[in-house]
Amino acid sequence: IVATDRAELTAAREALGVARGKATLALVPTMGALHEGHRSLIRLAREHADHVAVSIFVNPLQFGPNEDFSRYPRTFDTDLAACEAEGASVVFAPDPAAMYLPDRQVTVSPGTMGTVAEGAFRPGHFEGVLTVVLKLFNLVRPDVAVFGDKDAQQLAIIRRMVTDLDLPVEVVGAPTIRDADGLAMSSRNRYLGPAERITGLALSRALRAGAERHTPQETLDAAHAVLRAAETADPPLAVDYLVLVDPGTFAEVRPSHRGRAVLAVAARVGTTRLIDNVVVSYA
Ligand code: PAJ
Repeated sequence: IVATDRAELTAAREALGVARGKATLALVPTMGALHEGHRSLIRLAREHADHVAVSIFVNPLQFGPNEDFSRYPRTFDTDLAACEAEGASVVFAPDPAAMYLPDRQVTVSPGTMGTVAEGAFRPGHFEGVLTVVLKLFNLVRPDVAVFGDKDAQQLAIIRRMVTDLDLPVEVVGAPTIRDADGLAMSSRNRYLGPAERITGLALSRALRAGAERHTPQETLDAAHAVLRAAETADPPLAVDYLVLVDPGTFAEVRPSHRGRAVLAVAARVGTTRLIDNVVVSYA
């Protein structure tokens, strides 16, 4: 079932028995240009509910003025085929005009967690993400929602919103899917030329080098060394940040940190911005 507005979505929930409590529903929010990472989320969602809804919406609110909103890849027909092949029951693809009223006022603030790492480089980004995710939760009313570890800070902030605002949804995290060369799959990877892609491999290589080390300082040193080498490659890598943070709060960990931490990186190659992360554990 393809739903493009609230009424069609309500009808879909009725048709599937979700509205009458006869069936459970899992939501996989996406911006389309679906790849194997998104498809793995749909498969995982199917294990958590009777039906899966995939939303496809390129959310203008989460893009900065100089970001890639207008050129973001839009591949609706192949996305629909992918959703069908993975067994999704509903695709919710609203029109931006139907999602946001011209005089809208209220947004969701991510707090301090939205100002560090990715949030420091993309002001307003997580506010845009939380606002659309809360709207999608209220429209689709899923029992479960699945998000990827690929966007670790986004997942952590969404978990926090669910806790802090008492949202009646269970959040499930899904592992990052990578291409054979190690590059984390992303809708933006299609912007990369062959030489840019080789430069971009430094992100996953840096994370692997860091994850093999046994203290936070060694992790950061090893990962920085890989990134520094890529900064003089052709084309060069431009690093936005490399941080080692607490998985729940995204606050930077101390040198004496024990247990799990997230090593997260963001960098640009040409006009393409890439992010990646890995979980590291210290005994
Ligand atoms: P989008 O970038 O399309 O990603 C949709 C979901 O797929 C997110 O939960 C993301 O973490 C996950 N994902 C992306 N690449 C992945 C990979 N290689 N492996 C596993 N999961 C991956 O994230 C967004 O859209 C938006 O911010 C959204 C949450 C839809 C709000 O607009």
